[in-house]
Amino acid sequence: MKVLITGMAGFIGHALARRLAEDASHEILGIDNLNEYYDAAIKQARLNDLSGFGNVRFQRLDLTDTEGMQRLFAETHFDCVVHLAAQAGVRYSLDHPQVYGQSNLIGHLNVLEGCRRQQVGHLVYASSSSVYGRNAKVPFSVKDSVDQPVNLYAATKKSNELMAHAYSYLYGLPTTGLRFFTVYGPWGRPDMALYKFTRNIFDGRPVELYNQGDMSRDFTYIDDITESIVRILDIVPSHGKDRNDPPYRLYNLGHGSPVNLMTLVRTLEEATGIEARCDYLPMQPGDMQHTWADAEPLFATTGFRPRTNLATGVQRFVDWYRHYYDAVGKPYKIKSLASKLG
Ligand SMILES: NC(=O)c1ccc[n+]([C@@H]2O[C@H](COP(=O)([O-])OP(=O)(O)OC[C@H]3O[C@@H](n4cnc5c(N)ncnc54)[C@H](O)[C@@H]3O)[C@@H](O)[C@H]2O)c1
Repeated sequence: MKVLITGMAGFIGHALARRLAEDASHEILGIDNLNEYYDAAIKQARLNDLSGFGNVRFQRLDLTDTEGMQRLFAETHFDCVVHLAAQAGVRYSLDHPQVYGQSNLIGHLNVLEGCRRQQVGHLVYASSSSVYGRNAKVPFSVKDSVDQPVNLYAATKKSNELMAHAYSYLYGLPTTGLRFFTVYGPWGRPDMALYKFTRNIFDGRPVELYNQGDMSRDFTYIDDITESIVRILDIVPSHGKDRNDPPYRLYNLGHGSPVNLMTLVRTLEEATGIEARCDYLPMQPGDMQHTWADAEPLFATTGFRPRTNLATGVQRFVDWYRHYYDAVGKPYKIKSLASKLG
């Protein structure tokens, strides 16, 4: 099976490529523009980590390069496409709206067009829990209305779902959208809370807790995400009985058990052996207070439910963090080990 992964140097793309590459019957081509939204060295390191697999290839390509994308789809036939490349992050979207329009809208359109022209068997793409905005009813269900995004990132992700629906309806392109909920684990994203908290704890700096720490996230471990994606790849949506039921599916992909930020901090203290200092800050514009996935429909479809608990996942992340920063010659600072717990 030939698989295209967009955003392969990213957190989820790298983990998925690794997971798929372990099966020699997969041939994987990954693309990424290696942008510097966060430290590009970690993107390069993720690609290096994949270099031992003979069935993984990488091409540096920007989704917004329409001709380049056309060439890509003209040259290789893909059985399926996993579209993960996007400009992520809520806070960054406040100051850099243009890049969201380019990468997430034009880029998504270029992927849809490539899939349509080539009649790709299945397009699986990343959406986000951000689409739920300020929805008060929990857990969040894909049946809930998500017509009131509270930041531009969320608006582009909701748009991605609408665009996919149009292509499924008009051209019969099988599409599955996955609304990811706060993914974490080894090789994670430096702009996300777990990474930032860990870095600050090791550096002896305070952990910044927005909304005075009164926030919760449905943390979902990376291996549970990749397992779900691998299974969903094989479950290709088909037309319903009539034309008004296109081969279009949409699921939440979350653990289904929200965790308060203070619990995350305590879990990190356990994993690092260091007591955290906390800075309590106001709510950030565009942020969500709580996320909580109703992912039962996905579990029923794939026969798999996330099984990694927070303590295990955080410990694996911290172990990876120590190893990674030692290996790249920037050992994590240990001055705050003086305040070791117990
Ligand atoms: N990690 C999460 O918790 C989470 C939650 C919800 C949704 N998502 C979505 O999942 C997908 C993957 O997220 P991630 O955490 O791996 O993010 P990531 O930023 O680590 O990976 C995205 C990759 O896409 C690449 N990219 C961005 N714009 C590009 C462009 N124009 N052309 C080519 N490559 C481009 C980046 O260089 C990056 O390597 C994204 O679509 C994101 O919005 C992630």
